[in-house]
Amino acid sequence: MIDVKLLSGALGAEISGIDLTDVSDENFKTINNLLLEHKVIFFRNQPLTSEQHVALASKFGPLETHAYVRGLSEFPEIIRIIKKPEEKTQWGEGWHSDVSYNEKPTKAVILKSIKIPPVGGDTVFSNMELAWETLEEEVKNKIKNKKAVHSSLGGGFFLDKYKAMQSNGNMDEYSNTHPILRTHPETGKKILFVNWTYTKEIVGMDKEESKEILNYLFEHQARLDLTCRFKWTENAIAIWDNRSVQHYAIADFYPNKGLGFERVMDRIAVEGDHPQ
Ligand code: SIN
Repeated sequence: MIDVKLLSGALGAEISGIDLTDVSDENFKTINNLLLEHKVIFFRNQPLTSEQHVALASKFGPLETHAYVRGLSEFPEIIRIIKKPEEKTQWGEGWHSDVSYNEKPTKAVILKSIKIPPVGGDTVFSNMELAWETLEEEVKNKIKNKKAVHSSLGGGFFLDKYKAMQSNGNMDEYSNTHPILRTHPETGKKILFVNWTYTKEIVGMDKEESKEILNYLFEHQARLDLTCRFKWTENAIAIWDNRSVQHYAIADFYPNKGLGFERVMDRIAVEGDHPQ
C-alpha cells in the first residue's frame, strides 16, 4: 500500500510502498502524479544499481549531460557529487534551480544518496508556485511580462571548490534569457522562475532597479514557509520537479562537528523544455 507523508504544508512528501526498480508505465504514472502533486518526493531504502537509476530517470525523458562536470565513465549521465571529509564546501550550496542558464533547463532530477554524514548535509526545497502566489500584486505586475538573464558562471564556479569532482574540460561561460513568470507545461500552474545562483539581471530594466527587484525576489523565494527539508539516509532517492522548485544543499560542515565526514550522491538530470 502506498503511504504519503507530507514534509511540510508547502511541498514535499516521503513516499513508501513504491518499488523504484519497477519502471512499468503504470508505476511510472503513479510516481509522476505524486511528483506533480508534491513537487519533490522522497523514498528511503531503495538500493538502486546505476542501471536501475538510469532506467528510472529515463522514464521521465531524455537524459542530460552536464555542461561542466564529467559523468561516471560507464554511466556518463550520472554525476557523482562528492564532498570529501576535509572539505567544508559542498556542490549545490546556495538557492538554485538546476542549469537554469541552459536553453532548456532541467525538467527533473533523480538524486540517490550513496554516503551520508551522521550529521549535516540536509537538502532544502522551496515551492516556486507558492512563491509566485504569495508575491505582492504590485511586484507581480512589474515582472510578469519580463525576461531575465541566467548565466552558467563558467566551469571554474563548479569545479574550483569541489576537488573530488571531474571537469569535462569546458570552462566557458554562457547565458540564456527566460520568462520570469513561466507556466508549468503539465499542470498549467504559474511559476516564479529566477534564482539566486544563476539569475543575473532583468532584461530591459535599469540595472539598479533590476538588482533591487531580483534581491527582493531571492529573499521572498527563501521564505521558510515555502520550504521543506530532507534529512538523508543512505540509499534514499529524491526526485524533484526542477521547473517548480528550487533547492539548497546545506553545507553545515564545521570543524569538531559535521566536518570529517564524506558525503556522496549520484545525480541524474532529465532534459527540460524552453520555459514559456
Ligand atoms: C544539487 O544541488 O544538485 C545537489 C543537492 C544535494 O546534494 O543535496
